[in-house]
Amino acid sequence: MDWGMKNRLSQIIKSDTGRTVMLAVDHGYFLGPTRKLENPRTTIEPLAPYADAIMLTRGVLRTSVPAEITTPVVLRVSGGTSIIGKDLSDEGITTSIQEAIRLNAAGVALSIFVGSEHERETLLGLSNLVNEAEEYGIPVLAVTAVGKELEKRDVRYLSLCCRIAAELGARVVKTYYCEDFEKVSGGCPAPLVVAGGPKLETERDAMQLAYDAIQRGAIGVDMGRNIWQSEHPIAMIKAIRHIVHEKGTVESACELFNTLKNER
Ligand code: R5P
Repeated sequence: MDWGMKNRLSQIIKSDTGRTVMLAVDHGYFLGPTRKLENPRTTIEPLAPYADAIMLTRGVLRTSVPAEITTPVVLRVSGGTSIIGKDLSDEGITTSIQEAIRLNAAGVALSIFVGSEHERETLLGLSNLVNEAEEYGIPVLAVTAVGKELEKRDVRYLSLCCRIAAELGARVVKTYYCEDFEKVSGGCPAPLVVAGGPKLETERDAMQLAYDAIQRGAIGVDMGRNIWQSEHPIAMIKAIRHIVHEKGTVESACELFNTLKNER
């Protein structure tokens, strides 16, 4: 692996643990002003120091993140659809590789929609992005999107998506946690990170999800709503870091969360 690619990957995946806590704040690209991400700057600023990388679009990066930030950026480069539109799977590339370089991205991310009407376009989109990004030593993170059909998140479907993403050259694959997740990780030669999905009932539930994913082969999380929609987002991201980087249990993460949430 060339130096540039190695260096960028090591910005995202920490070499001392081999793991990562990515903070996803890209939701607005198809969901609009999502709850608690209405003002991206307010959400991102206090959390960025505790994230190994932040995942966002160029628009939010330029408008809402100071250029002095030291947290690496994974730039979302796919989009073109909205939650009220006809078909979420009809995404294309929104951001050129030159923009990614100009913005000093440590990685670029796009969604693939396996089994959808636009399966072929999104998979070829991934392949083309890998072709371009590899030229410049930029890792591609593929997101196995499920659109509005959350019931699609089963082991068979996610194993298929993750394997295809890895085969087409994604350096990191982002997917959802599911029952029998070890089969998803076992069939995917690229490192996996899991999304949190919509806000779960309790913080403990999200910690459990992160813990289970790590135990079953994920190298980390790329979590959004379950962190910044918490009433105590900083305590939450620290608790997730404890699980991901410090081999913390759900019990010890909950204890940490409860201690931190009462701190000023
Ligand atoms: C989905 O593709 C979005 O890009 C989010 O980055 C992703 O869903 C992760 O965020 P959350 O943990 O809120 O699901």
